[in-house]
Amino acid sequence: MSKEELDLESLEGVGTVTSQKLKDSGVRSVLDLAVRGPSEIAEVTGWDLGKATDLCNRARIKLVEIGKLEKDFVSASDLYKKRQAVERVTTGCKNLDDLLAGGIETQAITEFYGEFGSGKTQLCHTLCVMVQIPRERGGLESNAVYLDTENTFRPERIVGIAESRGLDSETTLQGITVAKAYNSAHQELIISELGEYIETNHIKLVIVDSAVAHYRAEFLGRGTLAERQQRLNRMLHLLLRTAEAHNVAIVFTNQVQSTPDVFFGDPSKPTGGHVVGHTSTYRIYLRKAGKNRIARMVDSPYHPEREVVFVLNEKGVDDPPPETVGRKK
Ligand code: GTP
Ligand code: MG
Repeated sequence: MSKEELDLESLEGVGTVTSQKLKDSGVRSVLDLAVRGPSEIAEVTGWDLGKATDLCNRARIKLVEIGKLEKDFVSASDLYKKRQAVERVTTGCKNLDDLLAGGIETQAITEFYGEFGSGKTQLCHTLCVMVQIPRERGGLESNAVYLDTENTFRPERIVGIAESRGLDSETTLQGITVAKAYNSAHQELIISELGEYIETNHIKLVIVDSAVAHYRAEFLGRGTLAERQQRLNRMLHLLLRTAEAHNVAIVFTNQVQSTPDVFFGDPSKPTGGHVVGHTSTYRIYLRKAGKNRIARMVDSPYHPEREVVFVLNEKGVDDPPPETVGRKK
């Protein structure tokens, strides 16, 4: 896809003034325009919703014309072809790869939720390393963006994981861009600017660790619940559209909240409620089991609901050593 094709001024009716206004608002291409959607364009530019909707529609039509976006009515065979472009990143752990039917998918959002210490952040670090390795070994020879909301990114962990996997740590570090989000509005700003960064920096994996933490901290109490859900919903849909439009894998983590009204089974649920659950393409629940960790696929459109065992060690996430397999911890 050429840069001219995505130039804002290539859209009919968009002149230098309109395109400058869009650029000043952080909307740099036709793709950005379509991904952000009318209500957000209206909000960042101050235009009325009618004008924003009109522009976004024209952007969509243009993208369909150049084959960058699906038509509104699409044949199953075209959908099938698009699914063929889906790529997978290995987790570096065979059991987890099996659970995910080969690894983390592009064009999708994969959510990992679980209690503290269940391995969410370690898994995110491992993925940032694995996405860079050669394709024949399960990587995508591409780079990663780590959106850090809780200040948990540790470059020294990347060095450790890379070295214990026989990779050059300096090269690996260079393949990871860290963006720290200081509050939910900042997080949304970073996500809205991801598109261009992805295209110009050969990104195939975007991590958001944790996606929900700022929203949870900022919107306390029942009175703010509706607003929180609305903001979360918008942020997650922007992530999903980014995953689809740019063919990248998006992984986010989520904490669990204890639900004291549950007396049987596991008394923990992911935070964010239905909004989060309905946007994620895949949800995986991580929990501790002694020294091991257990991952369970929840609500996937086509994976069977099942569990696998993994461990956390110097390689990040890894398979349990052979002698402990089958033995109950
Ligand atoms: P929260 O963010 O607090 O919700 O937890 P999390 O799910 O992100 O947990 P995280 O991925 O940070 O896991 C922390 C655990 O990883 C620790 O309790 C250790 O057991 C393990 N861990 C971290 N680094 C190492 C390491 O270098 N070697 C080994 N063997 N284990 C490690
Ligand atoms: Mg963490």
